[in-house]
Amino acid sequence: MSTPFLKPPLKWAGGKRWLVSHLKSIWESNGTCRYVEPFCGGLSVVLALQPKHALLNDVNSHLINFYRQVQNGLRMRVQMRNDEALFYRHRQRFNRLIRKGKAHSEEGAQLFYYLNRTCFNGLCRFNKSGDFNVPFGTYSAINYAKDFSNYASLFRQWEFSSKDIETLELEDDDFVYADPPYDVEFTTYSAGGFSWDDQVRTAKRLAAHPGPVMISNQATERIIELYEDFGFELSYLDAPRRISCTGDRTAAREVLAIKN
Ligand SMILES: C[S@@+](CC[C@H](N)C(=O)[O-])C[C@H]1O[C@@H](n2cnc3c(N)ncnc32)[C@H](O)[C@@H]1O
Repeated sequence: MSTPFLKPPLKWAGGKRWLVSHLKSIWESNGTCRYVEPFCGGLSVVLALQPKHALLNDVNSHLINFYRQVQNGLRMRVQMRNDEALFYRHRQRFNRLIRKGKAHSEEGAQLFYYLNRTCFNGLCRFNKSGDFNVPFGTYSAINYAKDFSNYASLFRQWEFSSKDIETLELEDDDFVYADPPYDVEFTTYSAGGFSWDDQVRTAKRLAAHPGPVMISNQATERIIELYEDFGFELSYLDAPRRISCTGDRTAAREVLAIKN
């Protein structure tokens, strides 16, 4: 039996819940496979599909630590208020834990949750020394969760890992849905440090997987060519976001690449 509708517990850029209606029937026709997301981010897709077995991976180790702590029954004990002074105190404590190698802990997960809800736009950025450096947010009110018991039983069925896509171990019949950071054309390094080279090695790795694969990305010319070259079947969708720089409110074009 599936758990009733659960919203992603964190704010996370690039949520793909809007894609679920397109992915659902393809997933359901493969529904006995293990479900794998190499770039799971905020979990918006897997929380809607609720597979029985899943491997959820993201290179952001603080994000994965938070999900693992939720599996273990995370309860919030740190103070939570939408207050600038408290925010900077908690940010400093979180960075101290990072420096001491102790951020992958229950306290680290509590602080990560508080910072995620309270910081500017729910961004997750670190400076060159590895410190979380997103400033205080601009929200008028924030709803903080006290515990995550409504997620725990579902999360206990799933495995979480924090690896680069290339070292993630897949089983041959895994169903893979990959949502890498968007390709931004005309740059070698896109925001979030995911380069064109990373897009190429992701496509190559997933094209070699014998089981079913779906990839979503921004439909740039070079991404279309890349996925076609690796033998994916492509379809196009209008994303709910807009291309703001053109000022004409054109819907951004998304590509869905499918194989096997
Ligand atoms: C577009 S977001 C995924 C959003 C997710 N589909 C959702 O609906 O919430 C892309 C994710 O890829 C992760 N990422 C970036 N580089 C990675 C890498 N080399 N290996 C694995 N994950 C990576 C980022 O941390 C980010 O969470």
